[in-house]
Amino acid sequence: MKIIIGNDHGAVNLKKQIIKHLETKGFECENIGVDTEDSVDYPDIAKIACEKYIAGGYDYGILCCGTGIGISISANKVDGIRCALPQDSFASHATRAHNNPNFIAFGGRIEYKDKIEDMLDSFFDTEFEGGRHQIRVDKIMAIEK
Ligand code: RB5
Repeated sequence: MKIIIGNDHGAVNLKKQIIKHLETKGFECENIGVDTEDSVDYPDIAKIACEKYIAGGYDYGILCCGTGIGISISANKVDGIRCALPQDSFASHATRAHNNPNFIAFGGRIEYKDKIEDMLDSFFDTEFEGGRHQIRVDKIMAIEK
């Protein structure tokens, strides 16, 4: 599994925690985010990550900012990107099963009730269910056209 991961200054430690966990699962992570707390603009990070993803070679993208909100809004402006922003392990499981996202976002300043490792596992250990959910995902993507 090859992941592209990006973050702004609001999620440096969270990004490192995510990479550490995914590497223990054997995932390859390409980090295009920042590694200091010098201020950057999250739309720039989202654009770089999404454009690289669309160009090919990655299975999923992960984006992190202070809340996960700004960077997920930015990612969802890029054609072909469906970026989910799960609140907990249930949502990270359900979004994979129902929405088939190609990106997930998290917030470095958010206190999640579940461990980030559990949220990642419930996402990556779940399969997209297809069927009626594929029809709905197709309708999401048709909005871009
Ligand atoms: C940066 O201060 C902060 O606004 C950003 O990380 C994010 O939370 C925006 O949605």
